[in-house]
Amino acid sequence: MTTATPRTTAAKGSVGTAHTRVEGREKVTGAARYAGEIPFAGLAHGWLVLSTVARGRIRSIETEPVLAMPGVLTVLHHHNAPRLDTDYVGMLGAPDPTVAVFQHDRVPYLGWPVGLVVAETSEQAREAAEALVVHYEQEPHDIAFSADRPDAYAVDGHMPGVAEKGDLDAELAASAFVVDEEYTTPEEHHGMMEPHAAAARWDGGRLEVVDSNQGTTWVASELANLFSLDPESVRVRSEHVGGGFGSKGVRAHQVAAVMAATVLQRPVRVVMTRRQMFSLTGYRSPTTQRIRLGADADGRLRALEHRSLSLTSTVHQFVEPCAGVARVMYDADAHHTANRVVRLDLPTPTFMRAPGEAPGSFAVESALDELAEKCGIDPITLRMRNEPERGPVSGLPFSSRNLLACFREGARRFGWADRDPRPGLRRDGRWLLGTGTAAASFPAGAMPSTAAVTAEADGTFTVRINAADIGTGARTALTLVAADALGTEPDRVHVRIGDSDFGPAGIAGGSMGTRSWSWAVTAAAGELRERLVPGADIPPEGITVRSDTTEALAALAQKERHSFGAQFAEVAVDPATGEVRVRRMLGIFAAGRIINPLTARNQFLGGMVWGLSMALHEEAVRDRASGGHYAADLAGYHVAVNADVPHIEADWIDDPDPDDPVGIKGIGEVGIVGAAAAVANAVWHATGTRHRNLPIRPDRVL
Ligand code: MOS
Repeated sequence: MTTATPRTTAAKGSVGTAHTRVEGREKVTGAARYAGEIPFAGLAHGWLVLSTVARGRIRSIETEPVLAMPGVLTVLHHHNAPRLDTDYVGMLGAPDPTVAVFQHDRVPYLGWPVGLVVAETSEQAREAAEALVVHYEQEPHDIAFSADRPDAYAVDGHMPGVAEKGDLDAELAASAFVVDEEYTTPEEHHGMMEPHAAAARWDGGRLEVVDSNQGTTWVASELANLFSLDPESVRVRSEHVGGGFGSKGVRAHQVAAVMAATVLQRPVRVVMTRRQMFSLTGYRSPTTQRIRLGADADGRLRALEHRSLSLTSTVHQFVEPCAGVARVMYDADAHHTANRVVRLDLPTPTFMRAPGEAPGSFAVESALDELAEKCGIDPITLRMRNEPERGPVSGLPFSSRNLLACFREGARRFGWADRDPRPGLRRDGRWLLGTGTAAASFPAGAMPSTAAVTAEADGTFTVRINAADIGTGARTALTLVAADALGTEPDRVHVRIGDSDFGPAGIAGGSMGTRSWSWAVTAAAGELRERLVPGADIPPEGITVRSDTTEALAALAQKERHSFGAQFAEVAVDPATGEVRVRRMLGIFAAGRIINPLTARNQFLGGMVWGLSMALHEEAVRDRASGGHYAADLAGYHVAVNADVPHIEADWIDDPDPDDPVGIKGIGEVGIVGAAAAVANAVWHATGTRHRNLPIRPDRVL
């Protein structure tokens, strides 16, 4: 069993101390410019036209009337658009054909890009795009997602495919208690505040793209591949980003903007509408997950099975790897996990905050609560009895695993010890009250990155790193990390980010951004500090040291590296209306060294709020007849708002990663994991009814 190291005050320095965002003033005064509003001389505006049928072929496009409309410069479509190379494997695999716009006449889903109208103003482009008539040969479509699809298939490979050890049926038969249930989660969308937007122009033989993305190294290399360009001739910038969550990689808008800028030889911007984002930028697949748990009378697991089904498009395979989380959390004599997928006439899903873990933990952590009820064991005690010594599937040691320390601290602060486990007993007027808990985990990885740190002649330092601050506070964290590595104060350090010309770096994704970039910044800053001679003059161009973490990361020992957490929720349920209100939430995390408590707390709370939202509100509903959404906007797609968010607190225990130069693990995603299960488990405790289908809408409670 592991124990947490005692919480210590940070050693003298900036890491670990609260610091407001270095670009905060720029953001709140409007001085910070976003991709959709950065001015260019001679800018033209592109408007995407999306298919109105869910499957078929484009028969013809009536471009003539639209080309005669005021201000219209061109209409790009599959007959006249530049050809693209899609036969490559990029940073995250082969490209989704959705980004290879206007290459053929096939329509694989509703909302597929079929054209781009470019005009002098955005209004002219929009009016012309809405007037463009496209004729289709429509074919029958199939968007019916269900657990019993005969055409579902298991995904190849160890991760995220199938992992099996032990005799499941024998262990289930020998178990004193068995839980065998199916859990479902609906289609969910990212809905970040800033829609996708990009402007492209050719400048002296180089392609320059101003974008809103999660990594300009990534987007630049995808664009270079797609347009068969020398990587050196592509520059992508993305300084301020109004939210990412997994969908801000290469998408139709950047590709269409580059095509139009190439054809017209002038700058072109393409901005997506909120409605277009619902079909063009990915989403979280709905899931159906079957869990079978078998345990001895004392709650020790003999059997654990987690089979998940998600959907993908007919043109690309993306798998929501829900069954991965069980491979880390709990061991069992028989341990079977499988991710399966079915191809439908729908857009390709994508990464969305804690892909796999977020819906996967809803199923696993709900099932654990059901097992605790059956065994008559406290849910936290049950988890303590099933704490693995090593990775249940990999057999690897954990770099550190402080899950139980999170539960102990969380239970103390939440007041868990006084809890009567029986459901449906507590009342506050018309409200039934209940509490619930769940565990969280998310991988702690790192991606190779380069950084350059310059000692300037005026005594300040400039850090150049191709990081992306998608609202996480990464730029501020890097300022603190650099200041400590240089032995100086944060106000003497200027961190510049979001420019592919700064050299390759990892993305703001997989909770790996700040860790990956900090490693590179620490390496360069540490070497620079050694090189500087006290009192010696610095030349006008400064002294620059560069780093590359590729080799250091390749040399890391094989271990299970994860952040962990314990989630707690208290809910009130009105049995007359079916309304569920979360009254308080607490999350205690073991997520590596915390760089900036101010922005870290925001990250955890944001994840927990999203988990609350997932539990009670979020659900994209599709119309089978058309294949489209009933309400592709943030009025119809319900997310938690301020009035839904209760007293909520996030904190952490000391848990520095032993193999990271700064001790970082990563905090971007672990906050959402388990949060929905904690709420659902609390609803059971309040009412005595299990909710295995999200969201827990009033009509389902009644
Ligand atoms: Mo996130 S789903 O790792 O961008």
